[in-house]
Amino acid sequence: MKSSVTSATALLLALAGSPAAAAPVVDTAYPYTGPDVPVGDWVDPTVNGNGKGFPRLVEPPAVRPATANPTNNINVISLSYLPKGINIHFQTPFGLGVAPSVRWGTRKDKLDKEATGTTHTYDRTPPCSQVVVTQCSQFFHEVQLHDLKPGTTYYYQIQAANGTTASDVLSFSTARAAGDDTPFTVAVLADMGYTNAGGTYKQLLDVLHQDAAFVWHGGDISYADDWYSGILPCEDDWPVCYNGSSTSLPGGGPIPDEYKVPLPAGEIANQGGPQGGDMSVLYESNWDLWQQWLNNVTKQVPYMVLPGNHEAACAEFDGPGNILTAYLNDNEKNTTVPKSNLTYYSCPPSQRNYTAFQHRFRMPGAETGGVGNFWYSFDYGLVHFVAIDGETDYAGSPEWPFAQDLKKGETHPTPEETFVTDSGPFGAVDGDYNDNKAYQQYKWLAADLASVDRKKTPWVIAMSHRPMYSSEVSSYQQKIRTAFEGLMLQYGVDAYLSGHIHWYERLWPLGANGTIDRAAIVDKHTYIANTGKSITHLINGMAGNIESHSTLDQSKILNITAVLDQEHYGLNKLTVHNASVLTWTFVRGDGSVGDELTLIKKKKCKGKQH
Ligand SMILES: [Fe+2]
Repeated sequence: MKSSVTSATALLLALAGSPAAAAPVVDTAYPYTGPDVPVGDWVDPTVNGNGKGFPRLVEPPAVRPATANPTNNINVISLSYLPKGINIHFQTPFGLGVAPSVRWGTRKDKLDKEATGTTHTYDRTPPCSQVVVTQCSQFFHEVQLHDLKPGTTYYYQIQAANGTTASDVLSFSTARAAGDDTPFTVAVLADMGYTNAGGTYKQLLDVLHQDAAFVWHGGDISYADDWYSGILPCEDDWPVCYNGSSTSLPGGGPIPDEYKVPLPAGEIANQGGPQGGDMSVLYESNWDLWQQWLNNVTKQVPYMVLPGNHEAACAEFDGPGNILTAYLNDNEKNTTVPKSNLTYYSCPPSQRNYTAFQHRFRMPGAETGGVGNFWYSFDYGLVHFVAIDGETDYAGSPEWPFAQDLKKGETHPTPEETFVTDSGPFGAVDGDYNDNKAYQQYKWLAADLASVDRKKTPWVIAMSHRPMYSSEVSSYQQKIRTAFEGLMLQYGVDAYLSGHIHWYERLWPLGANGTIDRAAIVDKHTYIANTGKSITHLINGMAGNIESHSTLDQSKILNITAVLDQEHYGLNKLTVHNASVLTWTFVRGDGSVGDELTLIKKKKCKGKQH
């Protein structure tokens, strides 16, 4: 019954095991009865549609194939930190036939070492056998380089196998050792899809050009699950809508020419535009597109991720007329049903329970006592970074396991008792699901924070997808506070980063219960890190995606909010200057500065803890 635990276990086995590992296991007690491939085109729901639709967006693969008609290819390369090492993750449409291999060394012209790794895969729909080879990933390879020197540049080349072309000689730099006081910069973002994220993408490349160490993406990655925006009917209150006769875009103003093209014959008015809507018609292709778009970033610096709600399943909820319920549950296209009844079984097995997310990235959970891509930590210079799963694995989490769907006396919920985004737990729950202290994640966080050597890493920065506080008040915020705020205050976390709400919001330093810590405010742009008493909260949900911006009436902005930007997309740049000063800069998509904050740590930590 604990399908999700099985799934996580299967993944770990896959990572450690033989080159051709099995797909992850999700709960299949009840069969999926929807279409084989949701959805290529509403008129012709096959992977390629009826051929009359809008052009599908494509991005180049990480490696340009050496032949015109390749049979296999390296489409995505994505780096991540390991303790004293690096994980080189890459993706191909088909298997390699051998263990994945990387040649590497400290000189570009002398790759004198070779490392091999493992491969994992899952039964994605559509499979890559139905998709253009250079635009599809179904086999996921992990090659680990261990015992590397800190703060050192290495060169690597992924080797060719089974039809792929070897990569160029690429490079990465390892994390600086804990305690290294050299200043560094990190790009922090969350909620980044494809649509609306062009400015953020440009700034990301600019920040890397300025030598940013790594990128930290706080969940909601690619918005693959918004594929259904491409088929749901237009709504008056939806800012990105193309209905064949009129179009509106977020923020108004000028409508690009391609949006003025009438709908092709036979096409049904739907969400999205000729470009935006088209990126949203196939769940897996959205992942492929987004990851290939980010190759310029992920193949040169570690791209650290954590889970958001959009990674959970193929859809979060239904739209007007419950068109998705009819399609996914009953394979009835372009019709309505009276009631929304999306369940855990409404998505194909490969599109449930964070399956794609577990395969398409490789975070150091296993190496840091955490779990997979869900919770982990790492050091860089003067900072201990902590990634928390804000979606599952704590009491009242926004996505919850089957155990919480059970009615009295049941051992397994009926489909109707489940919810489409049911997920996890990915760690053990030793006791009551309503007791935070029963969760492996809670215990890990307590142990991880307790083990921080503040002499080496005086700064501790945590991130999860979900904010603890915001002017946009929601019930999950209380739940995540109850789970983690006490530990974070107890162990002196300096800053808590999040996303989820699609705007930039900086809060005043907050103690328990959202009390503004006025003693920690020097001025509007300068806070004191009042370690153990208050935390600086930043919401970075403004990277841009097809769902556009969150908005709130000016009159509803709470006094806990110091700065709120509801208009601009962009990212946050964290610069660690030394043990006493770090700065945050909200860089808008056009490169202008949206906000700045300096965080000052007054006294040095004397003991091991703060
Ligand atoms: Fe979210």
